[in-house]
Amino acid sequence: MKKIQAITAVFLFVAISGWSQNVTEGINIDSLLNEMSLIEKIGQLTLITSDWDITGPSLSNDYKELIKAGKAGAVFNAYTVDFVRELQKTAVEETRLKIPLLFGYDVIHGHRTIFPIPLGQAASWNLDLIRRSESVAASEATAEGINWIFAPMVDISRDPRWGRVSEGGGEDTWLTSKIGATRVNGFQGEDLSSNSTALACVKHFAAYGAPEAGREYNTVDISTTSLFESYLPPYKAGIDAGTGSVMTSFNEINGQPSTSNKWLLTDLLRDQWDFKGFVVSDYTSINELVNHGVAEDEKSAALLSLNAGVDMDMQGRAFLNNLEMLIAGDKISMQQIDQAVRRILIAKAKLGLFDDPYRYCNKKREKTAIMTKDNRILARKLVRESCVLLKNENNTLPIPDNVKSIAIIGPLGDSKKDMLGNWIAAGEWDKCITLKEGMVNRAGDLIKVTYNRGCGIDDANTSGFEEALKAARNADMVILALGEAGEMSGEAASRTNIDLPGVQNQLATMVMEAGKPTVAVLFNGRPLAISQLQASVPAILETWFGGTEAGNGIADVLFGDYNPAGKLTMTFPQNLGQVPIYYNHKNTGRPLDPERPDFKYLSKYIDSPNDPLYPFGYGLSYTTFKYDDLSANVEGGQIQISVNVANTGNRDGEEVVQLYVQDKIGSITRPVKELKGFQKLMIKKGESKTVQFTLTKDDLAFYHPDLTKSFEPGEFVVYVGGNSVETIQKLVLFD
Ligand code: NOJ
Repeated sequence: MKKIQAITAVFLFVAISGWSQNVTEGINIDSLLNEMSLIEKIGQLTLITSDWDITGPSLSNDYKELIKAGKAGAVFNAYTVDFVRELQKTAVEETRLKIPLLFGYDVIHGHRTIFPIPLGQAASWNLDLIRRSESVAASEATAEGINWIFAPMVDISRDPRWGRVSEGGGEDTWLTSKIGATRVNGFQGEDLSSNSTALACVKHFAAYGAPEAGREYNTVDISTTSLFESYLPPYKAGIDAGTGSVMTSFNEINGQPSTSNKWLLTDLLRDQWDFKGFVVSDYTSINELVNHGVAEDEKSAALLSLNAGVDMDMQGRAFLNNLEMLIAGDKISMQQIDQAVRRILIAKAKLGLFDDPYRYCNKKREKTAIMTKDNRILARKLVRESCVLLKNENNTLPIPDNVKSIAIIGPLGDSKKDMLGNWIAAGEWDKCITLKEGMVNRAGDLIKVTYNRGCGIDDANTSGFEEALKAARNADMVILALGEAGEMSGEAASRTNIDLPGVQNQLATMVMEAGKPTVAVLFNGRPLAISQLQASVPAILETWFGGTEAGNGIADVLFGDYNPAGKLTMTFPQNLGQVPIYYNHKNTGRPLDPERPDFKYLSKYIDSPNDPLYPFGYGLSYTTFKYDDLSANVEGGQIQISVNVANTGNRDGEEVVQLYVQDKIGSITRPVKELKGFQKLMIKKGESKTVQFTLTKDDLAFYHPDLTKSFEPGEFVVYVGGNSVETIQKLVLFD
């Protein structure tokens, strides 16, 4: 134990010095580096999975031996105090230099208390709530030994076929940047060495969200201006927020896979963006350079990725198997290895692991910090705020007081497992509240609640239809629980059909024959093309996968205990043929012309409108809001915007007031509209509020083909409204 104490003393200063890189860490780390053998150094660059969870291919079971041999610097998919302590003990008691391990995990929307999927959280437009949910996630994860979280995913995506849209903030660059930075702050907190905060990992660098045809792991091919303007800013925002690590993406950019892309990982990330943390490859993505066809074998893949700027190899063992040989052959230098090792040791020091390698193995915290009442209350709050009311004809919702019986019908109505969605971390499905349970909890003895499955999520069996119709006929109101299975989104879950799976549309049409007020409650991890459902039912509530408190939070909304205010952060198409579809598209040379609806030679389809089913920013409330008195004036070198928002309905409600801007004429084409700000505020019935925004030249600057970013003076249209389509506008000259 002597060694660890010596190292502890040396590193204490680093551990409490925050993220500043100007501390004297070099000397301290260098003294440890001097003592390390080459293989011990390579071990620090090696991340291996335990056999507790499977999040990718090529699982092997020798992780304990590797740790003992000092050939692993980090482990993922291992949690609970006992298990982490056991592995950490091996590292700090049985290896020569006693260097503690990092423990990573995909804590994507909560650890044990599961919050709504990130796409759902984004629909809350409540940054404070998102930050608090991530600090709960970090607090629970660290109570079970985790000190490194593989999130946030900040990949911009415009293609709902891609299953991983569920893990991100949606299609908008500005909003996803804000959310990404918020998540980093939530995980890392103010003090990384606290035992309830963890290292964040911004992923997947870069442009992983733009795979061709929405197919997982597919090729990405985007223009450089689009890359800089639309895809890169959220990663940069995460870095500016202080993320300790960045994960590479599986895809290529301009023919170069990210894991071997020196321009991306060194020139941009290190030299231009000044990132000081460490870069980890995604799962076996170093080895996959061979399949990409840029490396002839694992050895050259290891060479390419280390040279590009990868510091740690996730699960592929390409570094472990090859870096010694590459050093011996003078292909790489010891300086390169030392640089990568230093970055990882610094992260460990900042987490306080040299001070106390078991600081995240606190039995008491494991018992008291997990699934607490407060954590569940926060989760329920986020469920409510994530819900988006898509349709509400004849005020079908909230459930009227005279309703005395409710028939819940549909395959998602009582499925605990599906409530967690994908990436469930250590979430426990048996602790989830389903829609049926939430409704029963709220209804008590006053309202009879029945449940019929009706059909499976994705099969052709209609034998339950008759019973379902009978139940609908016997009830005052029907709630259809429809959507996708939890595992139909997330990694490796791309779909070529994004309508409701199986026979769920038929179930909905059939149940409508009962003639009862009917609400469809949707559970899904991506925008769905639900034109048929939209045409057949009077009310639709999007609830995503709400996690542990799903049913309770949804019941709050259905009964009107909470007035929904969620707004979509990804466009819902009318049909799959419209994909990719997003609100901030370009105008084209032949945009639609309302004056000539029948003119053929315009940018449109002959068999579908261009309009989405529900646009970005869209979501209804049980009350209504009216926007007027918009002013936009240039004062003191800024655009000062003011708008009046009135609650014109008969309920108090929150509204997400959205600010969009169009740069009318540019030296290159500009989007028809871009989100530049929002405010979520409560407005009581009959009241109105004045909302103000300020725009600077920096806010309106954009990337040019030579990759300089600058503002171009001229005319701008300022739009304000409750979604990206229904807005009021003002023209302003800003020069
Ligand atoms: C592959 C995924 O792309 C990444 O997001 C995840 O963190 C790793 N597997 C580890 O599970």
